[in-house]
Amino acid sequence: IIQGLRSQIQTLEAKVVEMENVQKQLELHVQNLNGTIVEQQDAIDEYERRKREDETTRRKLHNLVQELKGNIRVFCRVRPALEFDQNEGDAQESIYSIDDRNGSITAQAPAKRNLKEGGRTSSENFQFDQVFGRSSTQSEIFSEVSQLVQSALDGYRVCLFAYGQTGSGKTHTMLGSMEDPGVIPRSIQQIFSEAERLKEHDWSFSLRACFMEIYNETIRDLLSTSDTDKAHEIKMSKDGDEYVSYVSGVTIENVGSVDEINALMQRSMKNRSTASTNMNERSSRSHSVFRLYINGKNSDTGVESNGVLNLIDLAGSERLKKSNSENERLTETQNINKSLSALGDVIAALGNKSKHVPFRNSKLTHLLQDSLGGNCKTLMFVNLSPAPDSYQESMCSLRFAKKANACDIGTAQRKTHITFN
Ligand SMILES: Nc1ncnc2c1ncn2[C@@H]1O[C@H](COP(=O)(O)OP(=O)(O)O)[C@@H](O)[C@H]1O
Ligand SMILES: [Mg+2]
Repeated sequence: IIQGLRSQIQTLEAKVVEMENVQKQLELHVQNLNGTIVEQQDAIDEYERRKREDETTRRKLHNLVQELKGNIRVFCRVRPALEFDQNEGDAQESIYSIDDRNGSITAQAPAKRNLKEGGRTSSENFQFDQVFGRSSTQSEIFSEVSQLVQSALDGYRVCLFAYGQTGSGKTHTMLGSMEDPGVIPRSIQQIFSEAERLKEHDWSFSLRACFMEIYNETIRDLLSTSDTDKAHEIKMSKDGDEYVSYVSGVTIENVGSVDEINALMQRSMKNRSTASTNMNERSSRSHSVFRLYINGKNSDTGVESNGVLNLIDLAGSERLKKSNSENERLTETQNINKSLSALGDVIAALGNKSKHVPFRNSKLTHLLQDSLGGNCKTLMFVNLSPAPDSYQESMCSLRFAKKANACDIGTAQRKTHITFN
């Protein structure tokens, strides 16, 4: 018996040794695997870094192609559903499907009920340079716009419009709020920090700003400090071989800091609200034009650049329902429709390379005469409400934007010249 047990112990000991060897091998294997995982993780990190790089390159190339094509760029933004939207339940269910990589947005007519009854819903697809869905943030929007702001600093004339019906998010996009600033404050911030950075490269910049409102085909100076605003006329003056527009009697302020700009914004708000008991009413019935003149000089090379940045919050594009239009409202609406269609006509004429571009058909286009066209960069935001109730108005906005996007207005040129000291 003992011998039997001994031999069993021997066999077991041999097995233990064998198992220990197996375990060592396995441990080695695990170590190798861990090494592989680390290597693979490094590879993944590297690919992701390259992907980001490719995305940045793609964006740059896209911008370059757009620039070479000379088209008006159009960005589309759908705002999130809000409490005040009618049938808010419906609004949660988007009538838009968006492919933000391809700048594609498809609008589906809100007629689900008909569909159940055998009817059809129509859908229409639009292609823009960028489409931003309901969860897009102000900083995402600005990261796509910042190149254009940079262009103004480089000496281009730049126009940025927000187009859409009242309540679609134009002011939110352009101005935003203190907590969630929009394109205007972010642009100013960028210009100041870039100007600071460029000091090292011998550039010095001077910034001048004006802020105007066009209401019922009349220009109002939003930076005016007097109670009575003078009449303002749009005039052209010759600057070298170029004509530049200016508005007589409009306050133009030097701005040297973000604080100074903020003070201007406050003043313009005050001027806007005193003009009307209901500021939102008023601002939806008027265009606001914030204009920044950016003059740079390089003390080393003698190069000067003269850029202009126009940031425009357009009046609401909605058509007034006939039933509730009082006389005053009717005039306002006719003026708004007139100036928005004048804007469309100017863009179309520029696109057709017409000899005559009807800049003078509205105050808005007249004012922007030197900032629209082949020498300038233009970007239009088309803002959309997600509410199914707004479907008809949204379609009008989308079609307006589609026409603008199709217009080839030529390649922008920098406004620079060299002075010899
Ligand atoms: N992207 C957004 N995210 C959150 N709230 C928004 C957004 N866009 C608009 N809003 C809100 O919707 C309302 C209407 O927007 P607003 O910018 O005033 O429209 P508009 O200027 O076109 O009339 C405002 O209360 C605004 O704060
Ligand atoms: Mg507004």
